[in-house]
Amino acid sequence: MVTRRILLSTAPAVLAGAPRTWAEVEKILASGNVKGKLLKEDLPTPSLVVDLDALESNISTMTGYLKQQGRAFRPHAKTHKCAEIAHRCLKAGAVGACAAKIGEAEVLADRGVGGLLLTTAMVGRYRIERAVRLAARKPDTIFVVDNAQNTTDLNEAARAAGKKINVAVDLAVAGRTGITPGEPAAGLVEHIVKQPNLKFKGIQAYAGHCAHILGFENRKKGSEEAMGKAVETRRILEKKGIECSWLSGGSTGTYNIDSHIDGITEIQPGSFLFMDIDYNRIGSKDGGEFYGDFKNSLTVLATAYSKPSDDFVILDAGLKAFSTDKPFPPEARALKGTKFSFGGDEHGKLDLRGAAKKVNLGDRVELVIPHCDPSVNLYDKMIAVRGQQVEAIWAVDARGKVQ
Ligand SMILES: Cc1ncc(COP(=O)(O)O)c(C=O)c1O
Repeated sequence: MVTRRILLSTAPAVLAGAPRTWAEVEKILASGNVKGKLLKEDLPTPSLVVDLDALESNISTMTGYLKQQGRAFRPHAKTHKCAEIAHRCLKAGAVGACAAKIGEAEVLADRGVGGLLLTTAMVGRYRIERAVRLAARKPDTIFVVDNAQNTTDLNEAARAAGKKINVAVDLAVAGRTGITPGEPAAGLVEHIVKQPNLKFKGIQAYAGHCAHILGFENRKKGSEEAMGKAVETRRILEKKGIECSWLSGGSTGTYNIDSHIDGITEIQPGSFLFMDIDYNRIGSKDGGEFYGDFKNSLTVLATAYSKPSDDFVILDAGLKAFSTDKPFPPEARALKGTKFSFGGDEHGKLDLRGAAKKVNLGDRVELVIPHCDPSVNLYDKMIAVRGQQVEAIWAVDARGKVQ
């Protein structure tokens, strides 16, 4: 662990007015003006921490790659739910941001994010009315549909509001939502283009079942098959004389597959910003087991707050600090040979028997997250750090916006 004494000799500027008491730290945290004033070791735990060097590198890797491939980039905000990150992506060249829920999209719109794509259908009165309201504020917003009745309902609501809204057809390429690709989808598009208050934008096809296929070649085969159905649907529409110049899909696991498929115009990945253990396991293009195209920028910072024996420490991060949907636990970064297991709502147990390093009471332990999206949704804020220095506090603005 980097101690304040070591840092004093290397970074005096940071520590010139450094806090000495918790009350001082608390005041700085509450002010939000943290840059140059706090170190990671000052933070209360568990804290959700995002490493800025890694995040910036991930944004630049993805934007650089997609630019080279000539594809638009509309990252999915369901991962981070944070307007600051959406703005950083826009600054890097993103055409907008995806949102999974109308609540997420509203929050992003409130904070100045445009180019929104709602990747799930607006079914139900409350969604439809809010969609039309959002479209009035942000006319470039795109909504997906997979059903004729819902299309008619959207058109009616848009007509009543005197608006025209953009819609795209959502294709069922992953056995989840969407309409069957090919003729059924084309039939729905023929219905859409007849609606006076809807503007047909194109196709969304998210092959989520391919994103985590282990091994690049297997993933490529799966994604090419799934996305091929979307490209074929686009061809059918064009043969019918319906312009379809937009096809959005793709994920962190398939960005370097889908962006090579002719006919796909836009990639909508999300997890690449943070990465997680689930994605680390999918395997790289060169056949390696570890998927390292993007860096693990997101961790949970915890404290060892009990040490029942030399073999274990108990951390202050448990079931409430991570999502628990994966069969593998968080991993303690920089503590090789340790094993984490959940010890209850507030507790994590770190087995030190194979550890290369000792962990003492009060030591900080940084844990890589099994699954980023639902873990982020557990926190009000994320702390942006550069090395050991705290640089900013970002609100998880759309936290809990699940409706
Ligand atoms: C519709 C849609 N598009 C894109 C993504 C981004 O996928 P990933 O986080 O794997 O990059 C998701 C994630 O669930 C999604 O649901």
